[in-house]
Amino acid sequence: MTSAAQPIADYVRLLDPAVRPDPYPLFARIREAGPFRIGTAPVVVVTSHADCTAVLRDPRVSVNQSLAKLQLGSMPIFDATKTTAAQAKPSFLFLDPPDHTRLRRLVSKAFTPRVVQRLEPRITELVDDILDKHSAAATFDAVTEFAYPLPVTVICELLGVPLEDEARLSRWSSLLSRTLDPTSRQAAEFRADPAELQRAGTELSAYFEQLTEHRRAAPGPDLLSELLAAEDAGDKLTHEELIATCALLLVAGHETTVNLIANATLALLRRPDELAALRANPERAQGFIEETLRFDPPVQLIPRIAADDLTVGGFAVERGDLVVMLIAAAQRDPAAFPDPDRFDPSRDNRHLAFGLGAHFCLGAPLARLEARVALTRFAQRVEAPRLSTDPPVYREHVNLRGPAHMPIEFATILPR
Ligand code: HEM
Repeated sequence: MTSAAQPIADYVRLLDPAVRPDPYPLFARIREAGPFRIGTAPVVVVTSHADCTAVLRDPRVSVNQSLAKLQLGSMPIFDATKTTAAQAKPSFLFLDPPDHTRLRRLVSKAFTPRVVQRLEPRITELVDDILDKHSAAATFDAVTEFAYPLPVTVICELLGVPLEDEARLSRWSSLLSRTLDPTSRQAAEFRADPAELQRAGTELSAYFEQLTEHRRAAPGPDLLSELLAAEDAGDKLTHEELIATCALLLVAGHETTVNLIANATLALLRRPDELAALRANPERAQGFIEETLRFDPPVQLIPRIAADDLTVGGFAVERGDLVVMLIAAAQRDPAAFPDPDRFDPSRDNRHLAFGLGAHFCLGAPLARLEARVALTRFAQRVEAPRLSTDPPVYREHVNLRGPAHMPIEFATILPR
């Protein structure tokens, strides 16, 4: 195999579920090859911290997938599901200014660190409720019965989605997050059923249509009612944009945060010294979460489209090329992080796990808060926890990568 073919073969191997528990040796090899093109396709893979940072900050790159020469179908959350009028418009994750600026501004005030901080007592209560449920047991699944329920409850409460609908929303969100994988249209590798995805998108959209009607009649103290007021106030957002924004917040805020809590819990269980230290000093949680975001990121890659010809790390990128930034590789780049394969919560951490620039994750303060509270309460209340199996079983998701199940055993759960 020639040296040009090797990184392509390695890149394709990332799609193999067998690699999911530890893709990092593969990411290291791909990164060492530098930026490369996938054969003759209009797809360039970017892997170093410096190159990913440069692309994320470059005004000549876009999120508008209609500019891409190759319509891979891998980027829009609702790619497989644009069947209703409400979904004809992508969410603002896939819009450039001025639409992006206008829509992001409308929701951003609900996610500032100050506003989010007020949710801490409620999030603590939710985490304690989850742990209480397991107090009579000797084992629980730290993904499905710990990491999973918290983010969906939090985002539903924020948006004003009734609690009894949580299970349906969880299912739609989990299915739709598969459309962020790099292989969505490559049927041979794509294991989710496209018809099922299509149905999930249509149902989610119809659900928010119905909920907006209820909220219009009886507004509540929630984000959906606020967005409806903005819609009524004139040209700030259209009905289609409102539905797309609700769906974005649900999907973007759910699976990612589940993965962060699960990945951080896994990192903690593998490091008994860190567990003891966190138990004694809850302030350590912050550094631990940041290092989890670098070491084992919930979002492994970020796509962009070149809106102009440019060079990245000396490599020519053409207008219309899809640029795939392997964040998970960049975050183990020794040029940016000394001894990158060492998990070090005290390091100076310039990770890219929440992206960078105009589309920097809107929910980062909320995700950090949820993860910090979950990890701290876990360390404080679960006595002598240990993994039943290591490594855990992973979900098939390539991009929003995380464990599917993580059974743990423990001595007892202390009262709150
Ligand atoms: C650990 C959890 C999370 C991770 C790792 C994460 C990661 C990311 C990343 C990498 C992006 C940038 C995508 C790009 O540049 O194309 C992003 C954007 C976004 N995230 Fe998050 N996210 C998390 C949690 C959340 C939460 C809790 C919410 C909200 C409830 C949220 C809402 C959003 C939104 C609305 C955007 C689009 C921002 C824009 O286009 O301006 N995220 N997230």
